[in-house]
Amino acid sequence: MKTRKIKNLTVSEIGTGCMGFSHGYGKIPDEDYSIEAIRKAYDAGCTFFDTAEIYGPNLEPQNKGHNEKIVGKAIKDFRKNIVLATKLHIPTEEAKTDGVYKTLRRHLECSLERLQTDYADLYYLHRINPAVAVEEVAEGMGQLIKDGLIKGWGLSQVPVKIIDRAQKITPLTAIQNIYSMVERGVEEEVIPYCLKNDIGLVAFSPISSGLLSGKVTTKTEFEKVDDVRNFVPQLKKENLAANQPIIDLIERFAKLKNATNAQIALAWMLHKYPNVVPIPGSKNQGRILENLGANEVEFTDTEFKELDSALNACTVYGYRGYDESEGKSFLDKDDK
Ligand SMILES: NC(=O)c1ccc[n+]([C@@H]2O[C@H](COP(=O)([O-])OP(=O)(O)OC[C@H]3O[C@@H](n4cnc5c(N)ncnc54)[C@H](OP(=O)(O)O)[C@@H]3O)[C@@H](O)[C@H]2O)c1
Repeated sequence: MKTRKIKNLTVSEIGTGCMGFSHGYGKIPDEDYSIEAIRKAYDAGCTFFDTAEIYGPNLEPQNKGHNEKIVGKAIKDFRKNIVLATKLHIPTEEAKTDGVYKTLRRHLECSLERLQTDYADLYYLHRINPAVAVEEVAEGMGQLIKDGLIKGWGLSQVPVKIIDRAQKITPLTAIQNIYSMVERGVEEEVIPYCLKNDIGLVAFSPISSGLLSGKVTTKTEFEKVDDVRNFVPQLKKENLAANQPIIDLIERFAKLKNATNAQIALAWMLHKYPNVVPIPGSKNQGRILENLGANEVEFTDTEFKELDSALNACTVYGYRGYDESEGKSFLDKDDK
């Protein structure tokens, strides 16, 4: 598996998003299966694993840490060989009572216990809380780096105006935003800013919740419980049909490169930018390995140009995210 540098961290070109083992895509697998899946990903060369304190069934508060516990059990024998990323939300009341640094540290220590480790390689603020200044978060994260508890830090779903404020206080390691062939808002400002400032762009939902794999059709029934696909606008039947030309395009390149559609979707972003690392998620061991295999798909510059310009000529129907479901991207939001 090829590697990439995200500032001071060396990661496999493709990471593994672990959320689906606990939340977001319907019924969760047995814990043993999930642990085995993470270990198989490592055996296949993956050294970058993504989790968050909040990932638990239905995101219910009592299920907090469910995903981190699974990841902790899975990686304990090779923890030092991987880059482990987790995330927190900052509740307004906690920040008011204890201050931001203490709040960050308390959440991190709980995460580390569940992850069975004494440091996180990458600690993200999962979402901006408008009641908490990002400068204070940056300062607190800087202190956690000095404490030796984290190696780097990041923000998630943020526009450049927020990134720049944080970057001036404690240089960022990575931004984790949504990015795929059908959700490209970050190409306008965020990726150029990150390239200029040596910040990695960790792409979440890089297969657009399965859409780009070509396996989701107008006949696919999503699960009834805890399945975000019920709310993803791009997966509404009318948008699935309207986006078919994009799937056909990907399929044409999949045949050309003897790859799968999902691998083309991942290889496209790897070819496009040197600082992008996708973290696809799957509950299925075979698909996890398939996605990691995308690092072997290489485009010639001519092939890539043809793919990218054909993609540019396509209209995308619908957005992927919930926040984006009103037809706005996160870039439109008036975040503080
Ligand atoms: N920072 C944030 O706010 C944020 C938000 C969302 C996610 N994340 C992180 O990003 C990771 C990835 O996000 P995501 O799970 O939405 O990404 P994704 O890989 O775009 O979507 C996952 C969906 O795609 C399907 N899929 C994946 N690979 C496939 C393949 N090769 N063939 C067919 N279907 C495939 C999965 O189905 P199966 O499970 O059935 O294979 C699942 O339904 C998460 O695990 C999480 O760590 C972060």
